[in-house]
Amino acid sequence: MREGRLSGRLIALGVTGSISAYKAVELLRLLTAEGADVVVMLSPSATRFVGPLSFAALSRHPVESDVLDLLPDGRIGHIVIADSADAIVVAPATAHWLAAMANGLSGDVVTAAALATSAPVVVAPAMDGDMWTHPATVSNVARLRDDFGYTVVAPESGPLASGQTGVGRLAELPAIVDAVVAAVGGRPIRQASAAARPPVVDAAPRDADLVGRRIVITAGGTREPIDPVRYIGNRSTGKMGVAVADAAIARGAAVTLIAAAVEVALPPEGHVVRVETAAGLREALRDAMPLADALVMAAAVADFTPMAPSDRKISRAGGGLTLELSPTPDLLAEIAALGAGSGDGPGTAAPILVGFAAETGGLERAPEKLRAKGIDLLVANDVSEAGSGFGTDTNRVTILDRGGTVDALPLMTKREVADRILDRVARALDARDAAAQTAGMHPDMQEGRPA
Ligand SMILES: Cc1cc2nc3c(=O)[nH]c(=O)nc-3n(C[C@H](O)[C@H](O)[C@H](O)COP(=O)(O)O)c2cc1C
Repeated sequence: MREGRLSGRLIALGVTGSISAYKAVELLRLLTAEGADVVVMLSPSATRFVGPLSFAALSRHPVESDVLDLLPDGRIGHIVIADSADAIVVAPATAHWLAAMANGLSGDVVTAAALATSAPVVVAPAMDGDMWTHPATVSNVARLRDDFGYTVVAPESGPLASGQTGVGRLAELPAIVDAVVAAVGGRPIRQASAAARPPVVDAAPRDADLVGRRIVITAGGTREPIDPVRYIGNRSTGKMGVAVADAAIARGAAVTLIAAAVEVALPPEGHVVRVETAAGLREALRDAMPLADALVMAAAVADFTPMAPSDRKISRAGGGLTLELSPTPDLLAEIAALGAGSGDGPGTAAPILVGFAAETGGLERAPEKLRAKGIDLLVANDVSEAGSGFGTDTNRVTILDRGGTVDALPLMTKREVADRILDRVARALDARDAAAQTAGMHPDMQEGRPA
């Protein structure tokens, strides 16, 4: 997915009971292509024109269609949307919906969310030509635009469902997308926290495609001691690494999780090794890697460590304090340098190595990091971006591989990111095995050679 004009935004798409409701599926796709996370609301009439399934599958959020339904976690769906959406776009908006909205009648989820929000609202009406020119509709539209400050994307002229030709066709979808972009332009993202946003549809469960694979995963932040009570740490909570471990276990892998400081529950299955420092992590990796098929290095390892940690608490009485730091080794690059034959486990092929790069303010340096470390996959994210990085339940990452492929994924849960990474690891392991088998064959038996 390309970097879009709505990246990181939550857009609530309200669909009402018009013949053109089917176009809202394409509108959802266009908004998503602009990088938006989209949640869909249907009026009860809209559900007679279009079912929720396509919307839920494409948006990865459950569809809200009953204003009296609560979310599974007890929250009120239309209030969650009202409070977290960066904009609400109602397309198509029926004459009935415009009237209800103009009068504040919150009998359906779309009106209720629009009434409860402080986000900008974009409305794209669609109806029969006479309905559009009726004084009731004209004054309702004027009220929405002039009194409520809504953006109205006027319908266009053309053939209508009634068989007549006139003004009433839903505006072209790119014009509606542009209006949404303009409405949110310059405003800060309202709710980056996944917890405050609408729930997501669970990721499609993966097959047990990692059975028999031994995967080492590191998680959390290392702590480099200054003295017995103080340390240099980082903001990693371990959520991403633990999500990878959970996902790998669910897919049948034998997991060794090397956990530095983490703030989340560790998986009860899997072999957990606790470490504190970069040096401890290095030792644990040295023990675990000879048998590993793959390493996913999600831990945030300190780049520097105090050269001479004190074995007694440093007193303030001495005045100021200058710490001398030495760089820690690049653990992933070290393992990559061992290359093929580093393992005496299942085959002596080199393990598949996955690194993470937490950047701030863009990912320009990521391709060079992948090359310099000599690894197979690099998962890069901009931790300064809303919804990505430390402590969040979501992440928006770009996966780069040795072959130069760059896969920019949309904002998604860390569990889904974990599965996307493991999809690539599973494929790379299969390719590695196939290559090893081919290499072991008599040359005449190799693919492409005559027998
Ligand atoms: C086939 C069909 C097509 C319709 N298309 C429209 C339409 O394009 N615009 C409109 O305002 N009403 C249209 N209506 C009428 C609405 O569905 C009706 O007013 C309904 O109550 C709207 O409810 P809602 O605004 O809560 O979705 C249509 C009705 C039918 C049967």
